[in-house]
Amino acid sequence: MAYTISLAGKAALVTGASSGLGVRFATLLAEAGAAVALCARRTDRLKDVEDRIVEAGGRAVSIGMDVTDVASIRSGVAAAEAALGPIGILINNSGVSGEQRLTDVDEATFDRTFDTNVRGAFFVAQTVAVSMIRTGTAGRIVNVASIAGLKPFGRIGVYSMSKAAVVMMTRSMAIEWARHGINVNAICPGYVETEINAHHWATEAGQKLVQMLPRRRIGRPEDLDAVVMMMVSDGAHFVNGAIVAADDGMVAG
Ligand SMILES: NC(=O)c1ccc[n+]([C@@H]2O[C@H](COP(=O)([O-])OP(=O)(O)OC[C@H]3O[C@@H](n4cnc5c(N)ncnc54)[C@H](OP(=O)(O)O)[C@@H]3O)[C@@H](O)[C@H]2O)c1
Repeated sequence: MAYTISLAGKAALVTGASSGLGVRFATLLAEAGAAVALCARRTDRLKDVEDRIVEAGGRAVSIGMDVTDVASIRSGVAAAEAALGPIGILINNSGVSGEQRLTDVDEATFDRTFDTNVRGAFFVAQTVAVSMIRTGTAGRIVNVASIAGLKPFGRIGVYSMSKAAVVMMTRSMAIEWARHGINVNAICPGYVETEINAHHWATEAGQKLVQMLPRRRIGRPEDLDAVVMMMVSDGAHFVNGAIVAADDGMVAG
């Protein structure tokens, strides 16, 4: 393929970089030449990711961050900037899931889901955007939503509601921050096997679900590479407020 994307000279921040999709996103950006701030609560796991990136010739720094705590977000972004310079790319990826029928949802589950997926994602994006505006950095923000934010699925209603909020958050940020040279887009992954759902695929219900998918398969983290790389590239300056499903056709039906 002749079209290659270099992120050399750019600094990126990835939340939820301690497992699953976040590890993949961080590794991908580092391979393309970005210096990457790896953020999450489990710093031991971030250090493993950092070591692998550095061994492969890239640049990364691990930063403890709890996205449910705005002070932790603010200090984490400041630490990333101090280490790597102005942040030009944010992959706003931290998230939690959980299965409960709507009639069974308790306050703790509701609050944990919204505090992480909506409030956390909002304040991470806001903190990075304020920094981009202050440093005059034309930026790219990729919010990680979900196909569950586009279409309801059984037993994950609260998660779906939170991801629908991320979709509207993306569109709101896109129109408000465009004048500052910041593009905000969202990727809506379909089912991709990671720690958030690994337990499910071994069950009978999980196997049944796979059989209902258009190609009877779930994705791997690397299946999202092309969409993320497009969204963070300089060439995507005319792509703003886009909500892109990467789901192998799941919500098409
Ligand atoms: N896998 C899928 O099929 C799928 C589909 C659609 C959307 N998604 C979305 O993709 C994103 C990544 O999910 P995943 O599949 O990679 O799941 P995962 O392996 O469970 O990773 C979730 C990440 O979020 C971080 N996180 C959770 N709570 C946090 C907090 N309070 N502060 C900071 N970080 C926090 C975790 O880090 P620590 O625990 O170390 O803090 C972890 O790195 C999520 O937003 C998820 O909703 C996933």
